[in-house]
Order: sequence, then C-alpha cells, then structure tokens
Amino acid sequence: MVRLNKKYVLPFVSKEELKNIGPMVSAAHKLLREGTGAAADRLGWLDLPATYDIAEFEDIKATAKKIREICDVFVVIGIGGSYLGARAAIEFIKSEFCNRFGGGPEIYFAGNNISAASMANILELCRGRRVCINVISKSGSTTEPAIAFRIFRGLIEETCGIEGARERIFVTTDRTKGYLRKFAGQKGYTTFTIPDDVGGRFSVLTAVGLLPIAVAGLDIDELMAGAGEARLAFAEPDLDKNDSLCYAALRNILYRKGRVTEILVGYEQYMQMFCEWYKQLFGESEGKDKKGIYPSSLIFTTDLHSLGQYVQDGLRNQFETVLRVMEPDVDLVIPDDPENIDGLGFLSGMSLSFVNQRAMEGTLLAHVDGGVPNLVIEIERRDERNLGSLIYFFELACAISGYLSGVNPFDQPGVEKYKNNMFALLGKPGFELRKKELEDRIR
Ligand code: PA5
Repeated sequence: MVRLNKKYVLPFVSKEELKNIGPMVSAAHKLLREGTGAAADRLGWLDLPATYDIAEFEDIKATAKKIREICDVFVVIGIGGSYLGARAAIEFIKSEFCNRFGGGPEIYFAGNNISAASMANILELCRGRRVCINVISKSGSTTEPAIAFRIFRGLIEETCGIEGARERIFVTTDRTKGYLRKFAGQKGYTTFTIPDDVGGRFSVLTAVGLLPIAVAGLDIDELMAGAGEARLAFAEPDLDKNDSLCYAALRNILYRKGRVTEILVGYEQYMQMFCEWYKQLFGESEGKDKKGIYPSSLIFTTDLHSLGQYVQDGLRNQFETVLRVMEPDVDLVIPDDPENIDGLGFLSGMSLSFVNQRAMEGTLLAHVDGGVPNLVIEIERRDERNLGSLIYFFELACAISGYLSGVNPFDQPGVEKYKNNMFALLGKPGFELRKKELEDRIR
C-alpha cells in the first residue's frame, strides 16, 4: 500500500496550515465522491477497480495470451493518455530493458510523435518479423496515432494480406464515437472499449493500458487488486487518515507559498516512464486558467550530476516528491578489492541498494537544508499490486488538486491550440483563412 512520509516537508508547512486546509480537501473529496463537481461525467476511473467490465477483462487476458503467441513485435499506437500509462507500468515492473526480459514480443510505442526518424526505426525493427498492432485512441481522430495507424496497417496488410491483418490489428477506442470504431467494424478488427466516463489520462486501468500491459506479461489481476485496495484505503474524507488527500493538500499549501514546480524524484531508472505518466496526468489536469503546479521529474543519482546543482542552490520555487520502494527486489554486492586503489574499501561488501538508500537519505537532508520541501511517497515493493495502488493514489490526488485550485481537472482545452494551427498550416479543409494569417506571421 502507498504511504506518505511527511517528515521532510514539515519544516516548511505548519500543523495549522494543514488543519486549515482540511475542510477544503474534505469538501473537494465530497464533490468527487458525490459527482457534484466539475465534469461529473468523467469520474468512471474513481470506482473502476470495483465496477470494471469483468467479461472484457477476461477477453483482454485471452487476447494478450494470443498476441504473445502470434507475434515477435507488438506496436502500441497512441499518444498522451492513450500510451503513457501502459508504457509506465511495463517499464516500472520490467525495467527500461523490458524488451530483453520476460519473454513475449518486443513492444514498441508509435504514434506519440510525428518524427520520421522514430517511425522509420520502428518500421525497421518490424522488418521480416511477425507484427501485431494495437491502435488506441478514445476520440478516434487524433492526428499522430492516425498517421502511424495508416503506416503500420499498410505494413501488415502488405505482409499478411487483408485477412491476415484482421488477426493482427487490435483497436481500443470509444464505444460509439470517432472514425476508428466505424473503421474497425467495417474491417472486422477485434475491438476493446474505453468507457465513456473515463478520460485519456485516467484510463490506464481500462483496456487502454491493460491490453499492452498484459501482452508484456504483467499480472493485470494483481494490478487491479492493488488499485481496488487503494480505492478502499483512500475513501476516507479526513486528510489525517488519507495519505492521497494529504498529498494533494500539501501540494496545494506549497503552491500557495510560491512553490510552483513539483519535481517527482525516483532513485531507480525503471521509474522514468512512470514520471512521464505522472507529468501528463497532473500537467494536463491542473495547468489551466493561467495557474497550476508545473510537474517535472528527475532520476537520482543520475540527475544529481546535472540538475542537482539547481535543486540544491538555484531559485527556491520548487518542491520535490520522492518515490520510494521500501524493499529492493534486486540487489548486488560491491566486491572487495584488497588493493583498494580506488579508495572504495569502505563500501566493500555493501549492497548497492543500501548505498542508493544512503544517497537518498543524504540528498533529502541536503535539499531540505537548501530550502526545498520534500514529500516522500512510499510503496512496499515493486510489483503489480503496489503499482496498481500507486496509480490510484496519484489519480485521486490529481483530481482533488484540480478541485482545490478551482479548475476542471478532466478537460484539456489548451491542447486544441497547436492542433488548429498545425491543421491550418497543413491546409486541412475548413482552415483556409487561418492558413493565410499564420503564414503571414511565420514568413
Ligand atoms: O488525457 C487525455 O485526454 C489526452 O492526453 C489524450 O489521451 C490524448 O490527447 C490522446 O487522445 P485520444 O485517445 O483521443 O487519441
């Protein structure tokens, strides 16, 4: 289960501040639970671990098993909330080298950019191999995955024929809306449904995340069970008894004191993509109406040799949230060397995890001394169950944070701006006037 350690933030936040924000947090929690706050039709994720479609869940497991048997490469096509959760979960459990461990197909993520270089690389990795694709788009109309889908569908049809492609293309999309649902129906592809009331960045525990996660060989029963435990553990409206609400409260207090940047810190490389998932979750949910905490991330000790200097000594407008796994699942011992020419004799026989832990403890103290508040989020171990709990912990805290700062955490109107300019500049029908205006500006 997830626990919030407040020891390193208390020098920056008084008990009174926490007490004063308590009623606001409970009120936000009530709005969420009763569905009376902003975007009440987007709260499906809240009870998903208890209300998910069991038949579809079993279908996902069976399909994942089949995909593992029939392909060497599995390409997941999606952007934003339609890929980050799956990638975060897979790398968290199987590491950044996931394609080399644990059997099953290699998994690549496409359609989350418009880089020809990246796409060409993935196509090259598919050459001469058995490929399956899972295109994921709730709206069914997002440009980046739509382009990638055209390209990879073409590849599969070319190598396996139209009939063969039907066995190898899997579509995850909205129940009714968007071209993708219609197209999949026409082509006879296997489809999975993203519930109407679950938005992209809150959808990792739907088919959006679950199918790729299961294809990677992770135990999605455990993942859901962990989320289910968190749902019960964090149902309490009192922040003294609810660490997810307490985390939201502390972030809000720090923000009001000018701490406008949150740095999610991991001491493990496998946390990198989880940090990306967190950044999208909070950034798209909170960053609107000209306000919001800027979510960022660092992996220590790697980044202590780059941005660590800034955190220790730079502008004091940030706080850190450290993600800590209490029991290491892998360890190594530093070998003894009687010659001790490198001067590391004092580390001989110590485990790497212990050294990493000491680095974390030393850094926490140094950063607190340097004036940076630190929150610590702890899970017992790295497994699917704890990961499920962690996902739910952050989703709940994110929704509460949005309500606390008076924004709708479930929309993303700002994303349309770049799209409209891009469409106009590319000559999409209907954007002709805007095209001329933009071209004048960039000339
Ligand atoms: O969180 C969100 O809603 C977004 O990040 C979407 O997931 C992202 O824009 C992709 O949208 P779609 O799944 O409709 O292609």
